Amino acid sequence: MTEITKALLPAAGLGTRFLPATKASPKEMLPIVDKPMIQYAVEEAAACGINEFIVITGRHKRTLEDHFDTVYELEENLKQKGKKKLLEEINRLSHLNFAYIRQGRPLGLGHAILRAQPFVKDEPFAVLLSDDIIDPEEKLLSNMIKFYKELDCPIVALEEVPKEEVYRYGVIAGEMEEDGVYRITDLVEKPSPEEAPSNLAIIGRYILTPDIFRVLEKMRPGKGGEYQLTDALKGLLKKRTIYGYVFKGKRYDAGDKFGFLQATVELALKSSPVADKFRKYLLEIADRIKKDSK
Ligand code: G1P
Repeated sequence: MTEITKALLPAAGLGTRFLPATKASPKEMLPIVDKPMIQYAVEEAAACGINEFIVITGRHKRTLEDHFDTVYELEENLKQKGKKKLLEEINRLSHLNFAYIRQGRPLGLGHAILRAQPFVKDEPFAVLLSDDIIDPEEKLLSNMIKFYKELDCPIVALEEVPKEEVYRYGVIAGEMEEDGVYRITDLVEKPSPEEAPSNLAIIGRYILTPDIFRVLEKMRPGKGGEYQLTDALKGLLKKRTIYGYVFKGKRYDAGDKFGFLQATVELALKSSPVADKFRKYLLEIADRIKKDSK
């Protein structure tokens, strides 16, 4: 069994939901508490032993490369000032390897993944969509890797969502094989609530096998005129079993303004330097809101 050492981080989107903040800087660099959104995904994968990251970027995304690079002047400055903790913090991910490829044209998630084929070659790999922030205390990706090793099949992360929200996701039909593990029988990208085969939505974590590239190569555009990864997985289903793993922990859809704010508040409550002060502040606000609404 080949170990999973590579992760793809698609990051070529225009981030239109966050305009004007994303006019000149990438959505993936928007900070949640004190880290850019994409760093949460990188840390999650690194905690599972993944050390090679392939970021699929586009124009106006250069700060992503700078962020994961060594900043010599900053290091020197922090050293001189004796700021050891900050120095450690900026170097914490320096053992990881990053490669950047450009998607070229915004033709969808499937197209973005296919661009990484020459670098992934014949290995299984993880895909993390950094919009979906998984609470750092949860074990989603490590559980998926564990199942992958057991089952030797591609695995997608699933979440039960309210029926009226299925149109935002890829949705599966499947048969439960054990608690929280489904053998997938069909997949539909962003169905209407009427079309949806279930309320089990694909969330942004996948363990894929390199045979997905063969399907992606032959694909046609799907929903929204884009090459959809969900459609490629449906194609792959004809050849092999694919599993879904239901995540029951905390996920924030930070690709959406409300989810972004939720992630900010929840993660700020956990991050120690400000957590206590912030909790007090939130309680004060809650009080104020209650009084105002009386
Ligand atoms: C993508 C996928 C979709 C999946 C979702 C998870 O959609 O196409 O199948 O459910 O990510 O976040 P996007 O959110 O990029 O539109």
